[in-house]
Amino acid sequence: MKKLLAKSNFTKAIERPLFAARYLKGKVKANLGYRFGQGYSLSPGRVFFALTGRCNLKCEMCQQYNNETFQEEVAHARECTLEELKTVVDDISGFSPIVIVSGGELFLHKYWFEFLSYIKSKSLFCSIGTNGTFLEKNATKIVEMGLDDISISLDGPKATHDSIRGVSGTYEKAVRGIEKVMEEKKRLGKTKPAITVIFTITPANYRHLPEMVGLMEELGVGTLRVGHLNFLRESDCEAQQAVSKEVFGVEKDTSWSGYIMSLNGFDSAWLSDSIRGIRNDKERGIKVAFFPDFTEDEVVDYYSDGSFHSKSFKNACMVGWDTAVIGPSGEVIICPNYIIGNLCEQSFKNVWNNEKARSFRKKIAKMKELPVCSRGCCFFYT
Ligand SMILES: C[S@@+](CC[C@H](N)C(=O)[O-])C[C@H]1O[C@@H](n2cnc3c(N)ncnc32)[C@H](O)[C@@H]1O
Ligand code: SF4
Ligand code: SF4
Repeated sequence: MKKLLAKSNFTKAIERPLFAARYLKGKVKANLGYRFGQGYSLSPGRVFFALTGRCNLKCEMCQQYNNETFQEEVAHARECTLEELKTVVDDISGFSPIVIVSGGELFLHKYWFEFLSYIKSKSLFCSIGTNGTFLEKNATKIVEMGLDDISISLDGPKATHDSIRGVSGTYEKAVRGIEKVMEEKKRLGKTKPAITVIFTITPANYRHLPEMVGLMEELGVGTLRVGHLNFLRESDCEAQQAVSKEVFGVEKDTSWSGYIMSLNGFDSAWLSDSIRGIRNDKERGIKVAFFPDFTEDEVVDYYSDGSFHSKSFKNACMVGWDTAVIGPSGEVIICPNYIIGNLCEQSFKNVWNNEKARSFRKKIAKMKELPVCSRGCCFFYT
């Protein structure tokens, strides 16, 4: 069983039976499809809604914020109506996937509340990802609706977080939101939602990691999830563009450019030591999970100038069997820039195994990975 679970999800699975059952079912189905499906996939274990591309912050490491084409598209994009969203939920609820709702910033969507409530009315496991700035005023609604999980991004202590996020006051807003959710859980006698803080490592904040562990322990959050940075070199993006065009017929695979970053002066050996120190501290009153859960040597390699291949993870993409990403306009994506259909026009069943989807799966099953996967795709290690 452990082989089927990504390391970072293993502990979570043991502690959360509903999550565990659905996660495991998803992994078994994905593996069966991957091995024997000839391009077909049984239903995905995970459906990820990017509810809106719009956002109120300007995070310096965010690929969406840094990508002008994406920003231009977002400004003119049509977002699904509530009726359309409900139809999609009806469509997917038959196979009980884990549902993750994020963005952009999901609270900017006009119908975020109705949408999440509808997901919960179908007894689906639902997790959301947010920057926390709208959390305080919506905390009661979120706790009352029975949401399962909430992940809030905090990139460091106050000054560091606000500087990375490009808008002052965001750290305090997010912390007040977390406190309010905790208060409301207590007042209403609820154990959900579980609260996770996400700390994404960047050149501007990695030296604050030990301090963040202490701050989050003091705040009383259940889990601090430390996410390694997705970043790419220009050469990765060029190689990706060539593969996308030649193999997949995608003329412009431009979305990766938002990940191009220079890590000049990044002390990866220091980070690796620091992670070891945190792992070895058995006294802490907070769970700290690293994602991906790289070995110490891998942490050093990951942030180096060279290419990177993990030895402790299977380097093969299974996203197309395992995860359906649904974009703001209803588009179904099984790899960034690879849209297989639109749920405002067709049912999920008719899209998931269509010719485009099967063709992509057959090709990626042979290739195993693309030039951007190992550092640029947050799904690669899940
Ligand atoms: C794109 S955001 C969307 C949700 C919400 N707006 C937020 O910031 O939490 C999802 C997560 O990706 C993280 N993130 C942003 N840029 C990243 C990068 N280059 N590498 C890894 N994670 C990144 C954010 O910090 C956040 O935790
Ligand atoms: S808040 Fe989230 S979506 Fe918005 S810019 Fe920051 S990381 Fe990107
Ligand atoms: S891991 Fe690679 S191939 Fe798979 S979805 Fe991500 S970018 Fe696409």
